Amino acid sequence: MTLKTGLEILKAAQTGSYGVGAFNTDNLETTQAIMEAAEETRSPILMAITAGALKYSGTRIVDIAMAEAKNATVPVAIHLDHGDSFESCMWCIRKGFTSVMIDKSHEDEATNIRETQRVVDAAHAVGVSVEAEIGRLVELGAEVIISEENATLTTADEAERFISACGADTLAIAVGTAHGPNKGRGRPEINHQRIAEIRARVEQPLVMHGASSIPQDVVARVNQAGGVLKDAVGIHDDDITQAIASGMCKVNVGTDLRIASTAGIRELIRDKPDIIDMRKILAPAREEMKRVIVKKMNLLGSAGKA
Ligand code: 13P
Repeated sequence: MTLKTGLEILKAAQTGSYGVGAFNTDNLETTQAIMEAAEETRSPILMAITAGALKYSGTRIVDIAMAEAKNATVPVAIHLDHGDSFESCMWCIRKGFTSVMIDKSHEDEATNIRETQRVVDAAHAVGVSVEAEIGRLVELGAEVIISEENATLTTADEAERFISACGADTLAIAVGTAHGPNKGRGRPEINHQRIAEIRARVEQPLVMHGASSIPQDVVARVNQAGGVLKDAVGIHDDDITQAIASGMCKVNVGTDLRIASTAGIRELIRDKPDIIDMRKILAPAREEMKRVIVKKMNLLGSAGKA
């Protein structure tokens, strides 16, 4: 099947009132887990590759994702997640990505608009769709750190002003989620009213970053097998379904796959100490990721929509 743009997949989701997962990949097994889950559930997907994944593997992760996606029988977009510059977006477009995110949400609004517009102009000229972001998610992980005090929820005014000025196709908004395994103390509070207010003013599909649910049973398995995941909490399933009902279309998930694969690897190494074959060590990781992804596709309502 030929690749779809992110916008094509998300417009269909918007019309059909369901969510679509954008799953982060950075290696072969994760890519296989995402594609197998999508085929098995007949679910459209965005295969999301971050700048960090590109730095780690160069073009190899792109080659793997493209090869898997081109054999797919369900709609797939290859998406740059958190592109940090015009140049990185152009590099991805040249490699065949059908969707790019330019993330200048940490800059002032005028700079965010200007930099996003530049990417939009170039991407639209070659039929690629663009995601932009306004507002700031809490970032408690190791890579980018934005404290709870510096995080700001997106307002309806700025969302409407920003999207009409920059011309992006889809809009990531901050509504109380956070990237990584520590999304707050207790159950993270999602501002559903804010999602509905923004939806009423912005017709473009909305994007929820930091949407991993951090399943507590999987966290417990990691810790029982020697891991140390402290205070790991995620977004409640009810908040995801309510967010979709209020107008969210794209739901970003990466950390859940990391935790699931870690559980599979740790248990395999603990239970079968004679195994030295990397394929046998990574096979359970792939199965664990696939299980989590299938569950998420059912929750989002994308299962059966391909
Ligand atoms: P999680 O860390 O919740 O999986 O979020 C991933 C994400 O938003 C990638 O852009």
